[in-house]
Amino acid sequence: MERELVVVLDFGGQYKQLIARRVRECNVYCEIHPYTISPEKLRSMSPRGIILTGGPGSVYEENAPLCERALFELDIPVLGICYGSQLMAHLLGGAVRTAPVSEYGRTELCIDAPDSAIFSEVRRRTTCWMSHTDYIAEPPAGFAVTAHTRHCPVAAMENAARGLYAVQFHPEVLHTAEGTKMLRSFVREVCGCSGDWKMSSFIGETVRKLRAQIGGGKVLLGLSGGVDSSVAAALLAKAVGRQLTCVFVDHGLLRKNEGDEVEAVFGSGGNFELNFIRVNAQQRFYEKLAGVTDPEQKRKIIGAEFIAVFEEEARKIGAVDFLAQGTIYPDVVESGTGSGGAVIKSHHNVGGLPETVDFKGIVEPLRELFKDEVREAGLGLGLPGPLVFRQPFPGPGLGVRIVGEVTPEKVRIVQDADAIFREELERGGIDTGKGQFFAALTNMRSVGVMGDGRTYDYAVALRGVLTSDFMTAEAADVPWSVLQTCMNRIINEVRGVNRVLYDLTSKPPGTIELE
Ligand code: XMP
Repeated sequence: MERELVVVLDFGGQYKQLIARRVRECNVYCEIHPYTISPEKLRSMSPRGIILTGGPGSVYEENAPLCERALFELDIPVLGICYGSQLMAHLLGGAVRTAPVSEYGRTELCIDAPDSAIFSEVRRRTTCWMSHTDYIAEPPAGFAVTAHTRHCPVAAMENAARGLYAVQFHPEVLHTAEGTKMLRSFVREVCGCSGDWKMSSFIGETVRKLRAQIGGGKVLLGLSGGVDSSVAAALLAKAVGRQLTCVFVDHGLLRKNEGDEVEAVFGSGGNFELNFIRVNAQQRFYEKLAGVTDPEQKRKIIGAEFIAVFEEEARKIGAVDFLAQGTIYPDVVESGTGSGGAVIKSHHNVGGLPETVDFKGIVEPLRELFKDEVREAGLGLGLPGPLVFRQPFPGPGLGVRIVGEVTPEKVRIVQDADAIFREELERGGIDTGKGQFFAALTNMRSVGVMGDGRTYDYAVALRGVLTSDFMTAEAADVPWSVLQTCMNRIINEVRGVNRVLYDLTSKPPGTIELE
């Protein structure tokens, strides 16, 4: 089956994932690649269309990220967005300069060519989202100006005969009122995609590919119980059944009941044909963490111990042919394109790849999906909703939600408080899908009175943040009544706590987790 593909070339723009996602919303499969990909390689992928993202550079600066001119000669339609539009102008003989007036934010867009293929569904005056200091001063020969704004004479241009389109604004962000229609017109009308890509086609196709890749081989997967590794496990189980062994390390720093929930889904009583090994390594981790207060050191200990446990289990299994990982697209993009994302992820993997496990190849069935698409695939594979919509959880688990030394007692406190917080949020109908909501344990103890007795107990911090990318976040406006119920319940039900705080810090300057 031939798959319609649109390629997004990444020039460092912050919205690249959003572009890819909008394309998929048009039911067209989309992949992001670094701008350095060669035109030959691109041609070999036979995309129906190419989209150039925005980016922080200026085309006329030294070291500006440039693609080859040949990209525009492939006879594949190209849409340049923001920096991508300037790049198209620059490489094809137009002029790009610093704009006399920079435009940021919502801006009125006047369509000059309502019959342009990308504007055919759009009103003649509409709102677009601008964010630029350079602009196209002169379009290249053969290009027609198709839209302008008050300060931007070439807000859009095209050479329809060559299938080249450029927009200075960002059609992928929702502030561009009719941006989705423009992208849809590009993908459907200009690129001629029929839009028959669906998540169910993804599952079927991936299962076929996995069988071809794995053959009769044995596969080992480190299952964390998070969404990504769970969906990877379900996909692999569907593809190769008992050739798959999942090792689930319970490091004793999971959320309340989480270990049992994971076992219920993947263990022998669960819905999947696979080998499931749960390692109850709680004590080992607690022993290693005893007396350690420095956050970095805690992370390192947890990471190293995690790998050690995993490797021990792997040795018991013996040689495997493939190591599977639940890497998803944002991980690939963040670590692969040279646009500055790599640093963030280093602390996001618990321990990295095990070194002493003997394997021939790596299997990463989710490498091309975004988080919400991974979730959709998970539902399609029959994973339970609560697992699929589970909130993000750090690899070192509660280890980074307990400030100071980690002890079994503190783990119990934070698990119980966290479970109450999440229960009350659900009861209160609070939408937690737009961020992260959890309890953390401060290292602060203070005096209180309970009944007739004096207490000297811990303060629990509740944290709720709203974020779309986890790079920036602000405190969620959780209703006072819900917070009060949480406070009452936590103090009454969780021994060792006599104070409940709500963390108002945004990121930056804070991080989402407390440590
Ligand atoms: P911060 O606290 O860095 O968190 O603002 C941003 C997002 O990353 C998660 N996080 C981690 N995930 N290992 C992980 O796998 C980690 O060490 C780690 N630290 C933070 C955090 O839960 C949030 O979603």
